[in-house]
Amino acid sequence: MVVSLRKPPAAIDLEDEIRRLKEERNAVILAHYYQESEIQDLADFVGDSLQLSQQAKKTDKSVIAFAGVHFMAETAKILNPERTVVIPDMAAGCSLADGCPAPAFAKWLEQYPDHIVISYINCSAEVKALSDVICTSSNAAKIVKSFPKEQKIVFAPDRHLGRWVQKQADRPDLVLWPGTCIVHETFTEKKILELKVKHPTALVIAHPECDESVLAHADFIGSTSALIQYAKKSPATAFIVVTEGGILHKMAKEAPGKELIPAPGQDESCACNNCPFMKRNTLGKLYLCLRDLEPQIHLPEAVRLRALRPIERMLELSATAKD
Ligand code: 13P
Ligand code: SF4
Repeated sequence: MVVSLRKPPAAIDLEDEIRRLKEERNAVILAHYYQESEIQDLADFVGDSLQLSQQAKKTDKSVIAFAGVHFMAETAKILNPERTVVIPDMAAGCSLADGCPAPAFAKWLEQYPDHIVISYINCSAEVKALSDVICTSSNAAKIVKSFPKEQKIVFAPDRHLGRWVQKQADRPDLVLWPGTCIVHETFTEKKILELKVKHPTALVIAHPECDESVLAHADFIGSTSALIQYAKKSPATAFIVVTEGGILHKMAKEAPGKELIPAPGQDESCACNNCPFMKRNTLGKLYLCLRDLEPQIHLPEAVRLRALRPIERMLELSATAKD
């Protein structure tokens, strides 16, 4: 891994400079809900994986500064190759993408020649290129349901999301690649039950990347944006939030006055659970990537074109298929 030694000058106001560079570069800043709050506050758009792909596809800015993880920035480049796509830290990966290398995935797929392949967007461009349709946590069940019941399906790379989709879509025979998110799999049933005892009126809201023993206690399960909308619209006044801690920033803004209780991961010193990949991005690195237009996402055109087809299929199905 190449470690960057670049540092922003000490005597600058990073936020002002990022705003100035954004204009100078004709850039848009897209940020995921798991980013640090100061990055979210500077972004032009904050959203979940699906919304961020939609924004990336439609932007007319010259530069997309993607404050998220690598597969998200890569998806933006696949959808909008004319734009320069930069990411604050190239090492902002994802355990799901890293745990599903394309050569091993291609070999594994040989066992399922009569299955179609639906892949979660948390995977590399090469894995997308091996897939028939992409999905995100906000449309996974809908996309699976858009295929006839007799259609055999492989679902990769998140086995927890896959397990949840099996139930939601009533497709128990979905074949699952055994990947996991290192952040969501550290939530435990024991900790959730302890929190429920402490906060008996709070509703449990959880991301579908959690283990099914945790999801079994959830009052609502959904993508990051769906969790925020649920906290906002529900008449309940307290929520145990079982996902990455960065979401609390936007949730608190959207659901003012409501009590948001983060579920802890394994690190006892932290009340919530942070994604080490998402948190590699800092304001300083966002400034540097806008200043230097580095690190940039580059992709072989043949891979991009093969990965584009299943992403576009997802965007179409997302707009047209029934829930
Ligand atoms: P969302 O699409 O729900 O924002 O999920 C992205 C992600 O990486 C969750 O860990
Ligand atoms: Fe990947 Fe999990 Fe981090 Fe999301 S929270 S980027 S799935 S490691």
